[in-house]
Amino acid sequence: MEKVWTILDLITWGKAYFEEKGVDSPRLTMEILIAHVLQKARIQLYTQFDRPLGESELTTLRSMIKRRAAREPLQYILGETDFFGMTLSVTPAVLIPRPETELLVDYVLNRLKKDTSTANENQAETTILDIGTGSGCIALALAKNINASATLYGLDVSDDALALARSNAERNEITNVQFGKIDILEALPKRQFSVIVSNPPYISTTDMNELEPEVGSHEPKVALTDNADGMTFYRRFAEIFPIMLEERGWFAVEMGFGQGVMVEALFADAGFATLVINDFAGIPRICVGSRKLL
Ligand SMILES: C[S@@+](CC[C@H](N)C(=O)[O-])C[C@H]1O[C@@H](n2cnc3c(N)ncnc32)[C@H](O)[C@@H]1O
Repeated sequence: MEKVWTILDLITWGKAYFEEKGVDSPRLTMEILIAHVLQKARIQLYTQFDRPLGESELTTLRSMIKRRAAREPLQYILGETDFFGMTLSVTPAVLIPRPETELLVDYVLNRLKKDTSTANENQAETTILDIGTGSGCIALALAKNINASATLYGLDVSDDALALARSNAERNEITNVQFGKIDILEALPKRQFSVIVSNPPYISTTDMNELEPEVGSHEPKVALTDNADGMTFYRRFAEIFPIMLEERGWFAVEMGFGQGVMVEALFADAGFATLVINDFAGIPRICVGSRKLL
């Protein structure tokens, strides 16, 4: 007779299996996968430990377990992730949004709030550009939470990323973001912006060899690396932001580990007043700059 697999059997088996495969948080991972297949909240599994899974449920679960054991990120397997209170679809065409990036969104929202509280009545509409928008996470989180009238733009070089960003806007009923294709290393948008934000590809060729399999073997290379020293996009930004920002404009860009001093120096040399903000781990993570007003 075929073995009957209950929820508890599967949790116990999956925990041991994922442990052996070097997967992080093995029991939690298994619980999340089972809950996803059964379309239940994870907590509900605890009241149904003896529930057996049907053949088709087991088939779906088996394929998900196989993918996670091959170190594919859980978010790609589930097809979605949470970012700044929204649920966003993610596919291997885009970087999985990171918690550090929520810090960037938080900084920008707080600063905009202060700016509007001191702005004069004739202030033109705020325009915000997100360079390398990927899933659209930064532009969409800003659009959803901004308390001023604003138009947002998200650009990317990847058609697949742009298609996903547009569908994430729809999924979250956000209408004030426009997405478009531009290779920012080659071309410029035709207008200026009040605020520019970006989380660019910043991993150097050397550091690409050190990545966990979840990142290095599964996330898109175009989102991770500049195929050089990790500084290509910041050098380009220092060159183009003076042209792209309105007179009272400012920018906030995310940086990788150990890049803070170099990135800040690039922008300072380009004539910006700069500030570096640390992340939760105390690592310099965001460089902010505004034009020096004489
Ligand atoms: C680190 S990911 C950031 C994605 C998203 N903003 C986030 O924070 O999760 C960098 C993004 O830049 C895009 N990108 C790479 N090269 C680019 C280029 N030359 N011009 C415009 N976008 C580019 C990638 O496709 C990718 O979506």
